[in-house]
Amino acid sequence: MANRGNFSGNIGFILAAAGSAVGLGNIWKFPYEAGQNGGAAFLLIYILLTFLLCYPIMIGEIAIGRRAGSDAYGSYRQLGGKRWGYLGLFGILCGIMILSFYNVVAGWAFGYFLEISFGSLLDHPNYGTFFSEYVIDFWDNLIFSACFMAITAFIVLKGVQKGIEAASKIMMPALFSILIILIAYSLTLPNASAGISFYLLPDFSKINFQTIYSAMGQAFFSLSLGMGALITYGSYVGKNQNVIGAAATITLMDMSVAFLSGLLIFPLVFSQGQSPAEGPALVFVVLPGIFNAMGPIIGRLMGGGFFLLLCFAALTSTVSLLEVPVAYFVDQKKWSRKKTTWLLAVFIFVVGLPSMLSQGAVEMFTHLPFYQDRSALDFVSEVFSDISLPLGGFLMTLFIVTRWGTNNMSEELSLGNESYRNSLLEKYVNFSIRYICPVILGIFSVLIIIDKFYGIDKLTN
Ligand code: TRP
Repeated sequence: MANRGNFSGNIGFILAAAGSAVGLGNIWKFPYEAGQNGGAAFLLIYILLTFLLCYPIMIGEIAIGRRAGSDAYGSYRQLGGKRWGYLGLFGILCGIMILSFYNVVAGWAFGYFLEISFGSLLDHPNYGTFFSEYVIDFWDNLIFSACFMAITAFIVLKGVQKGIEAASKIMMPALFSILIILIAYSLTLPNASAGISFYLLPDFSKINFQTIYSAMGQAFFSLSLGMGALITYGSYVGKNQNVIGAAATITLMDMSVAFLSGLLIFPLVFSQGQSPAEGPALVFVVLPGIFNAMGPIIGRLMGGGFFLLLCFAALTSTVSLLEVPVAYFVDQKKWSRKKTTWLLAVFIFVVGLPSMLSQGAVEMFTHLPFYQDRSALDFVSEVFSDISLPLGGFLMTLFIVTRWGTNNMSEELSLGNESYRNSLLEKYVNFSIRYICPVILGIFSVLIIIDKFYGIDKLTN
């Protein structure tokens, strides 16, 4: 294990893990999920679940990785034996599948950067039409997402320290700043206050089973939990670092970017008279409006800048997704880092082609007969993220409770944080991992699967 590489210190790890967390999940997925699931009610449940389930799970994942010092498979296997190793393999599979469609959406963001900065997007009369025509453009999509995957592979190749940390250091503060500027501007637009009420005043009658599981899936996806990404990153963390504090910082950063993104999007949605329940197209349809309103020069600069930053944010996430399977083949199969990275990048790109062609380009992928005529992108993202991440989190807590032991976890966590032992926080984390997570995630994992494939309302009617 001599040259697996390490993060350069606490800040290095926090930046890399926050870079993994902050991405399209915050700026693209969060607003459309919130828009489809009741706005403020969704936001509230999302925040609640993040504290109740996700923060403890994040701590658990990092602890497992740092203790074992290996990839997702190797870590479970080392601490729990061969059977638990399969949980690591399942996580690696999810990472591959999530990256396959994530890279497609990242390609859209890259295309928007170019179209806004140098093309005629902002002058288009209808941004909705522009988007639906854009996503069926075969060559643009193919080239942009291939570029994206190549850049991801390039950064992963440079190893954890140089590549991943460096990108996060510049991107994070810049992204925060541009969000704040845009929010300030969007709040001055007519009817912005309707968006604020939708986003911040919860209507509890809108909460149902689907609101809760969508918020749960979103929280796991956004924090990169449930498939071993943070086990892998945890394995590069030094023993003298404070995992508890780092996890808190990462969680708060990620939540704030998602929150700000909603604060930007919903005033725009309402001031443009659009529906918040537009779905995955939401930010691509709504955002050009604010840049257009800023005038041709400032609009292009701000719009180009925003989508470029979104690409950077997506890049630190794709890097973490690719790192998971790469670490597995390098650690377990002793492949060279270079060969593994390029092979996997090409493979995952090919796996993503059906998702790329599922937005109207190819009928067979646009309406999957075995998935209620929904798209390949929906299928992959729902099966490998909405369903699998909470399920992976559930199984991880079972691993800690029944195999590794919360005591061993506490011992690992007190390295780098001496006051953790017997603290109130330790009791909270252990209580959550022993009882709250297994019960809530166990029940929901089953119900989500039933709902996605069968429809929960069919059971109750
Ligand atoms: N969290 C990232 C986002 O919000 C996506 C992501 C990166 C991810 N690594 C992950 C999601 C691992 C699940 C698991 O955009």
